[in-house]
Amino acid sequence: MFLGLSLSCVSNVLLARATTVGSVGSPDRSGSLGLKEHYARSVASDCVPLSITLDSSHATDFYRSFVPVSPAGSYQLASDGLQLFLDRPQGKIVTKQNVNDKVAEGATLNSTFTLLYGTVTFTFSGPATPGVVTAAILIADQHDEIDIELVGGDPKHWQTNVFAPSPRDEQPLYGVFGEIDDYPHGQKSVEATHSYTIDWNEDRIQWSADGAVVRTLRKDDTKKNGALHYPSHFARLQLGIWDASSPAGTSEWARGPINWDDAPRRMSATFDSIEVKCPY
Ligand SMILES: *[C@@H]1O[C@H](CO)[C@@H](O)[C@H](O)[C@H]1NC(C)=O
Repeated sequence: MFLGLSLSCVSNVLLARATTVGSVGSPDRSGSLGLKEHYARSVASDCVPLSITLDSSHATDFYRSFVPVSPAGSYQLASDGLQLFLDRPQGKIVTKQNVNDKVAEGATLNSTFTLLYGTVTFTFSGPATPGVVTAAILIADQHDEIDIELVGGDPKHWQTNVFAPSPRDEQPLYGVFGEIDDYPHGQKSVEATHSYTIDWNEDRIQWSADGAVVRTLRKDDTKKNGALHYPSHFARLQLGIWDASSPAGTSEWARGPINWDDAPRRMSATFDSIEVKCPY
C-alpha cells in the first residue's frame, strides 16, 4: 500500500531497464552512452550483489546505489544511519472524519539498480506514531510490489504485502495479499532496529525478520479474478516514510490520521544497512 508513489512513466520494459541502469554512472558518462550500450549494461547488471552500510562514511557507495525521489532536505546520511524524515505540513491542519486535510510529504529513495528475483535484507526502524508508515519495498514500473511496512499505529507487528495488478482487476487489491505479522523471538516493536528480508524467486516469496522466516507466499496462492498476481518484473528497491492520514481507507488501515498536536514536528525512520544477494 504505497499510495501515490507508484506512478509509472515508462511503459516499455527494456527502455525502463536501460533508463534505470543509465543513472548508475555519473551523469556525464551515462549521457554519452547510446541506447544499445545502455541495454548491454543493463543486462550485465541485472541483480548485482550489494552490501552497504548506510552512514556518512559510505556516502560514495550510497549515491552510486540510491537516488532521492523527495527533496534534498527530506533525508540525511548521518554518522549513525540514513534518516528519512516526515515533517509536519505548514499551517493549520484540520481533521474531519478521521482524515487530515493536509498530508506530509515524507522522504523516498529509489535504488539506481533493478533486480528480478533475489534476496534483499533491510535493517531499519520506524516511528511508533499512529498514521505514520515506514516502508521498504521492491517496486516495478509495471506496478508490481513486494512490501515490508512498519505501521506506527500497530508497533508490535510488522506488515507484508504484494501487488501485481491484472487488467481484470476492477480496483487495486489492497487488502487481499497483505498480512499482519508477529515478530519472531518474542514481542518487539517497530521502533527497535530489526533486519527484514524479502527472499523472492520464481515460485514463492519468503519474508523474514531477524533471520526467522515469518511468511511464505506461493505463486499459486496469488490467484484472484482468474489471474495470478505474482510479482515477476524487474523491480527497484524503494525506501520511504509516509503520512497515511488520507484518504479514509488508508488512514483507517494505518490507525491514523496523525495527531499533530501530539506527534513531534519531525519524525524519522532510520535505515542502517541493505544487503542484496543474487540468485544467478
Ligand atoms: C522511483 O521509483 C518509482 C516506482 O518505480 C518510479 O515511478 C520513479 O520514476 C522512480 N524515481 C526515480 C527518481 O528513480
